[in-house]
Amino acid sequence: MTVVACHRVAVVHGEGAVRVRALDDVSVGVEERARLAIVGRSGSGKTTLLHVLGAIVEPTSGSVEWRANPSVLTSSSSLSDRARRLLRSRIGIVFQGSNLLPHFDAGENVAFAALASGADPATATGLLGLVGLEAKARHLPSELSAGEQQRVAIARALAQRPALLLCDEPTGHLDGDTGERVLDLLDALQRELGFALVLATHDSDVAARFDRVLVMHDGRIISSADA
Ligand SMILES: Nc1ncnc2c1ncn2[C@@H]1O[C@H](COP(=O)(O)OP(=O)(O)OP(=O)(O)O)[C@@H](O)[C@H]1O
Ligand SMILES: [Mg+2]
Repeated sequence: MTVVACHRVAVVHGEGAVRVRALDDVSVGVEERARLAIVGRSGSGKTTLLHVLGAIVEPTSGSVEWRANPSVLTSSSSLSDRARRLLRSRIGIVFQGSNLLPHFDAGENVAFAALASGADPATATGLLGLVGLEAKARHLPSELSAGEQQRVAIARALAQRPALLLCDEPTGHLDGDTGERVLDLLDALQRELGFALVLATHDSDVAARFDRVLVMHDGRIISSADA
């Protein structure tokens, strides 16, 4: 079953001299439990594509269809605000830079996400346990290492038990060993929870751990290869 598919999507920002075609004729399908990496250099469109798949950015043209719930097919052309919110609550996103609320501790960051998606905020402790950070629940983001912050961001993205987890350069700011541990954690969580995982990276070694690799350049997919 396909969790999300986009068809001939373009995203254009700005007008005239500052017009940028961030995505240009991009089609991609993500199956249940898929492991897909998106690689490409800075500015190639990786974040934009993740945000289209995550219903954050609306395509300028083309279409996106989600099947986050087996019985419901949602299309980008018919998305009301309410439907978009519902859809967003079934998609986990780990943003580029961990993006935690700075004045709230790790447990609160995860609990708010659970609350926002209708889940029990008490599950936050269990989610922090999943990423090995139960003992740091009362720590502010500024009191956590970069790797720990990234793990809190992963726990937060899992709060709604997503069918689809989108991770934007989750190892971009981490040293090699810490990055490996975050990737191992994502692998283990995916085996346990069964979501489809789409991860953007500029690092071809990271991409090599995935089943399928899309290479982007100037907003286009220039190759798509199975491992
Ligand atoms: N809100 C925006 N307004 C104008 N241009 C934008 C906007 N968001 C992205 N762009 C442009 O779209 C292109 C693709 O950006 P995107 O962030 O998707 O690239 P990326 O591959 O994620 O890069 P990086 O590896 O640096 O994170 C870039 O040229 C960028 O400048
Ligand atoms: Mg990016």
